[in-house]
Amino acid sequence: MTFDNLKLIHLISVNLFLLIYLIKTPLLLFNADQALAKITKSTKVLEMIISVVFLASGVWLIVLQEMLETMMIVKLGLVIISIPLAIIGFKKRKKVLAILAFLMLISTYGIAEMLKFHKPVGTPTGQTVSAAELFKHNCQRCHGAKGNLSSSGAADLTLSTLDGGALKTILQNGRNKMPSFSALSDEERDALATYIQTLRIH
Ligand code: HEC
Repeated sequence: MTFDNLKLIHLISVNLFLLIYLIKTPLLLFNADQALAKITKSTKVLEMIISVVFLASGVWLIVLQEMLETMMIVKLGLVIISIPLAIIGFKKRKKVLAILAFLMLISTYGIAEMLKFHKPVGTPTGQTVSAAELFKHNCQRCHGAKGNLSSSGAADLTLSTLDGGALKTILQNGRNKMPSFSALSDEERDALATYIQTLRIH
């Protein structure tokens, strides 16, 4: 299975999970007990399968990307807490718990979006950051820790044959779905170009 397929499966299962709770939460809040019992019964197995797929694919994505950064840990923690919270909330008819679980799940979405659009991280003035750090913050989510992950159609850097000049041009201008890193300094792009050549299999 490709990385992008796994991402799609994750996204679909997360949305199905949210959809089920989007239907069930108002029923709980408005004391529609009969309707809630009916839906809970008919979606029980489905919900179990979806939540397993959703957690497993999420963990697998993190493993593949080798990226357990703080935000990722926060996100994983929120999901792992919110699922039992939702189950208990609905079982015991505790509305506060159910709402809390729902809000926690929604906020993980916000974190996912934030991770997607984060800006290039460069060297804070007067401080040196290693090329490996620059790579980790700016490139890893698409190219993976070792450069061989192909998320969102990213090129496998371990197989790249581009020379230093061509690498710097791509970093400066971007290419197709590869974003531009013109926000980084010249020195940082130099360091990155040198670093990614060390990832190649010779
Ligand atoms: C949003 C995802 C994404 C991020 C982040 C990203 N890349 Fe890319 N990268 C791509 C894609 C997609 C391609 C293929 C571009 C194409 O279609 O030509 C690519 C291609 C490349 C190539 C060309 C390889 C070749 O031989 O053709 C290099 C080099 C590269 N990336 C380096 C980097 C570096 C260094 C960083 C971090 C500063 C980085 N990328 C960050 C998505 C990304």
